[in-house]
Amino acid sequence: MSADSPIIKKELREYVDILGYSESELLKKNREETKKLGPISIMQVGAAQGAFLSILCKCGKFKNCLEVGVFTGYSSLCISSAIENDSRLTVIDNNNEYLDIAKKYWKLANVVEKINVIKKDALEALSELKSNSDKQFDFAFIDADKANYVEYYDLILPLMSRGGILCIDNTLWKGRVYDLDNQTDSTKAIRSLNQKIKNDKRVEHSILTIYDGMTICYIK
Ligand SMILES: C[S@@+](CC[C@H](N)C(=O)[O-])C[C@H]1O[C@@H](n2cnc3c(N)ncnc32)[C@H](O)[C@@H]1O
Repeated sequence: MSADSPIIKKELREYVDILGYSESELLKKNREETKKLGPISIMQVGAAQGAFLSILCKCGKFKNCLEVGVFTGYSSLCISSAIENDSRLTVIDNNNEYLDIAKKYWKLANVVEKINVIKKDALEALSELKSNSDKQFDFAFIDADKANYVEYYDLILPLMSRGGILCIDNTLWKGRVYDLDNQTDSTKAIRSLNQKIKNDKRVEHSILTIYDGMTICYIK
């Protein structure tokens, strides 16, 4: 069962947790191990979201995927298990402790060969990918520190091919996006990104009310 959904009421959340997805034994194990890290485990994506990412990647038959923010590996497991053997997932995270847990699960899921790890600050890593102009991603998932969300979007969009899909997590931010008394850096950055995407003619988008909100952008 996933951690509490921050934006849907308890009864509905419980209903979704019973019928809304089928979580593999390995993903359950990953979620249980992550819970042992304490309150920080809230950073993990919801199970319904993981299932959604998996279906999306199966339908999209993406060849070159990117994830910014790995944590203990849940979403990277969903993405890498869904793509074909000759497809690749580049992941970026700057935390060794989390990456070590993720690596253990990639091994168990037999997806190590598909994953290219960049252990670096995401802004630095993305700037380097930007200078390597032949790098084109057809799928990307942004789920790292929220304060840099606009910068991540700006750096990733030019790296994406037309027809590609960009997903961004936590875009409803437990409802803090509409609470104007909340002016933290993270909240302000998510608000700015939501506004930017709304005005961005390069993409077609939808904010999904799944888990903590996830925006899906189609690159035109
Ligand atoms: C919300 S968690 C990612 C959750 C993950 N997608 C999952 O499936 O559970 C955010 C991750 O971003 C990483 N992170 C935060 N700031 C970063 C930065 N500036 N550069 C690289 N990684 C960063 C953290 O170490 C953490 O693992």
